[in-house]
Amino acid sequence: MIRIAVLVSGRGSNLQAIINSIENKYLKAQISIVISDISDAYALERARAHGIKAVHVDPGKFASKELYEIEVLKNLNSENIDLVLLAGYMKILGKTLLTAYKDRILNIHPALLPAFPGLHAQEQAFRHGVKVSGCTVHFVDEELDGGPIILQKCVEVTDDDTVQTLADRILEQEHKIYPEAVKLFVENKLIIEGRKVKFKT
Ligand code: GRF
Repeated sequence: MIRIAVLVSGRGSNLQAIINSIENKYLKAQISIVISDISDAYALERARAHGIKAVHVDPGKFASKELYEIEVLKNLNSENIDLVLLAGYMKILGKTLLTAYKDRILNIHPALLPAFPGLHAQEQAFRHGVKVSGCTVHFVDEELDGGPIILQKCVEVTDDDTVQTLADRILEQEHKIYPEAVKLFVENKLIIEGRKVKFKT
């Protein structure tokens, strides 16, 4: 059984979607640990409510990003983690984690990458006046929100949308495609060829 770690910083609705897909047997995997850089992230409570080990690793306690990530890595190693999911994790990954988990870290982003990387992607897209936006699950590499794309889902922007209504509709789709992408990884169906991710049949 593939052992998953989820890195979070906030409310954890994507974490919840992954937990649900494991509990309803859509995903055959196990979340072994949830790690947050924020002590009161609601995601930690969600994990504990499902009997999942939930740990706060405080970046403030470490002199550098590298030392902080070494501590995170210790937690991953002690749980024999195969796959790391970023789910609303607000820190940019450094070399330590990227090297240790090369091609084994996924992220969900609330826009159609490569458009609108970075923070507040839904708002960036909305203010730009796009007619469609959406979400993207991708492998994580050294470029911010820039790794090979696994799945994307479009959401239409209507005249009466606000940033919030758009973000809500995108989030609904996030909760669908993140478990789908994880399932493809867990079933070993993803092949990375340069920038492209192909699916084994
Ligand atoms: C989501 O919109 C995700 O795409 C982005 O951060 C947000 C996290 O939300 N990376 P949640 O913590 O999963 O509810």
